Amino acid sequence: MDKDLLKGLKKEGILDQLYLYDEVSSTNDLAKKDPGDRKLFLAEVQTTGRGRLGRNWKSPAETGIWMSYSLKNILSPDNIPGVTIVAALAVAEILEEMMPKEIGISPEIKIKWPNDIVINQKKVCGILTEYVSGIGTGEGSEKEDYIICGIGINVNMSEFPEELADKATSLFMETGVTFLREEIVCKVIKKLTSYYETYGLLKSLDFLKKNYNDMLININEEIVLVGENGDDERKVICVSRGIDDTGALLVEREGKIERIIAGEISVRGLYGYV
Ligand code: BTN
Repeated sequence: MDKDLLKGLKKEGILDQLYLYDEVSSTNDLAKKDPGDRKLFLAEVQTTGRGRLGRNWKSPAETGIWMSYSLKNILSPDNIPGVTIVAALAVAEILEEMMPKEIGISPEIKIKWPNDIVINQKKVCGILTEYVSGIGTGEGSEKEDYIICGIGINVNMSEFPEELADKATSLFMETGVTFLREEIVCKVIKKLTSYYETYGLLKSLDFLKKNYNDMLININEEIVLVGENGDDERKVICVSRGIDDTGALLVEREGKIERIIAGEISVRGLYGYV
């Protein structure tokens, strides 16, 4: 990656620290060991990239964006789950902006609640948000809490292993265009920082709810709710009504609206992954 372009984020005062590695286990693990406010950890390859629910995250060399952005926590515990919504919208809007519309190619960028980004029914980005509590910055200093936004974007790969081929895609595979990864990184970090600060001030996601719901897949359609452990007995069919200003998914069932909290339940379309 072109470090000079990324350094622009420091010059503009958006980032405090930037770390670019050739190979790491997981950028989230590095960020959790040494968190700070506005510290960005990026790697060309992750050997043990992690996804949600202990899944592994394929992070091959130089074709994707594998990054973790550490931010000082400015939210109350109730608001923290909303950061995944903030991060998902920031990535989705930047990917939408970067589609090569000038050559007539602009596949729809969609969000699968709470934070997968999807193109043509396949996942192009996953987000793993983690919380680090009570880290001191020096002797006698106050303990701070940090939020780590781990973001994986499949950018220029031309294929996936067989077991992922029907679920995963890349920007290149959907458009035929090769993207400059550092340009995406810069734009995502700027937007994510700005949304995070606004969220910290307002303590509500009302300011981005409409934009998020406009990109939400299956809104006002039937969806299936599945227990996060994949427990089939908990499958429930209902209609998605989009997020509220806390980031919970509103679903309608037998005329009643219920709030679904991220982390407890996953959502599927009626036919497959989305
Ligand atoms: C998911 O969809 O399950 C979340 C995937 C998150 C992957 C990113 S890649 C950068 C960061 N480091 C990790 O080990 N995971 C996140």
